[in-house]
Amino acid sequence: MRYHTNMKKNSNRHSQPLTLLGGISAETFLKEYWHKKPLLIRGAMPAFEGFLTPNELAGLAREEDVQSRLISTVKKEWKLEQGPFSGKRFSKLPKRDWTLLVQSVNHHLQEANDVLQQFNFIPYARLDDLMVSYAPDGGGVGPHFDSYDVFLLQGCGQRLWRISEQKDLSLVEGAPLRILQNFNTEQEWILSAGDMLYLPPHVAHWGIAVGDCMTYSIGFRAPSAQELAVEFLNYLQEHRTLSGIYADPNLVTQKHPSEIGAGMINQVSSILDGLKWNDADVADFLGLYLTEPKSHIVFDAPKNMTLQAFGKRMKRDGVKLSFKSQLLYVSNTYYLNGEIVVLDADSAGLISRLADCRLLSAEDLSLAPKISEYFVVLMHDWYLASCIIFSE
Ligand code: SIN
Ligand code: CO
Repeated sequence: MRYHTNMKKNSNRHSQPLTLLGGISAETFLKEYWHKKPLLIRGAMPAFEGFLTPNELAGLAREEDVQSRLISTVKKEWKLEQGPFSGKRFSKLPKRDWTLLVQSVNHHLQEANDVLQQFNFIPYARLDDLMVSYAPDGGGVGPHFDSYDVFLLQGCGQRLWRISEQKDLSLVEGAPLRILQNFNTEQEWILSAGDMLYLPPHVAHWGIAVGDCMTYSIGFRAPSAQELAVEFLNYLQEHRTLSGIYADPNLVTQKHPSEIGAGMINQVSSILDGLKWNDADVADFLGLYLTEPKSHIVFDAPKNMTLQAFGKRMKRDGVKLSFKSQLLYVSNTYYLNGEIVVLDADSAGLISRLADCRLLSAEDLSLAPKISEYFVVLMHDWYLASCIIFSE
C-alpha cells in the first residue's frame, strides 16, 4: 500500500514549483532550460554553505583513490597538476590565483549524495558526479566550455561567473587545459552561498573567486557517439557468436593474386549481415555499461559478517547503496555495477525502491509484504561485495 502511495506522490512531484529551480517545476525546467539556455537561481539552496572546509577538501585530495587537480596561473601561463597532493605541496601555494578541484566527492560523503539526490528529477543514468573546488581570490579554471550540462552551486564565499553563448570556441593551443582563445563576456553575476547557475553544454563560462570560495558542480554524463559505438561493439563481441566459416567453392582465377576480389568482399559482407541487434540488446548494453564502475574506482572492503547477523542488522538499521555503486533498471531487469541482477519475484518491489531511493530503511523493510530468504542472501552477497552498506 505504502509503495503505491509513494509512487502516486512521485508522479506529480515534477510539476510542483521548486526552490532549487527558482520557483519553476522540474517539468518546466526540462522543457525550457535543460540543454537549451542558462538559468541563474538566487537562493536555490537557501541555507547551503557547503559541507566541506578547504582543509577537508585538501584532505580528500591527498587520497590515492581520489581524482584531484591543482590549476594555477604563473605569469599568465596556465599550469595543471594532477593529485594526489602532499601536505608539502599545499604549504607552497601562493596567496591567490589557484584552485583545487576534487572530482566525485559523492563517492566519499553522504552529504554529497544528499545534494545529488535533490537533482533526481534527471535520471541517474545521466548524472555523473559532484565536483568540489576551492579557490582563493582570483582563482579559477579559466574561460572554457564543457560538453555536458552542469549546475554550479556556490558554497562558502563568492564567485564571479561570466558567461557567453559565443560561437567561437577555439582553444589556446598548447595549454595544459582547455582555455578559450577569445572569451567575450555577455552576462556576469556574483554568486553567494546557496546561489546556483545552470549551464547547458557548450556555453562558455569563467568563474573567478572573489575572496576565498568553494563551488559545488553537479555534472552530467554525456558519452560521445564514438564512445557509445566502441562500447557497444565490445558488448556485441562478448554477446554474439556467428556460426559458419568463410568458404569459396565458386572461386575463379584472377589476374592479380594480390587483389582482394569482389567475390570475397561480397561474401564477408553477407557474413557480417548476420550481426543483428535490436532495442533489447541496446537496453541490456546500456544497463551494463552505465552501471560499470569507472576503472579507477576502488570499493572499500566491508567487515566480514555471517548471513544470520547480517539479516538481523539489515532489518534493524536498513541498508543503502554504497556511494560508488550504481543500480539501474530497464523494465524488469536490474543492473548493479556492471552486472545483471538475478531476482526472485518477492524481491522486485524492494529492489526497485533501493534503486530509486538508493536506500531501504528499516521502516521500508518492516512494511514490505514479504522478505524472502533469497533477498536476504542477495543483500548479504552485495554487502560482502561492498555494493551496499548499513544505513545507520
Ligand atoms: C570550478 O569550480 O571552478 C569549475 C567549475 C567549472 O567551470 O566547470
Ligand atoms: Co566548466
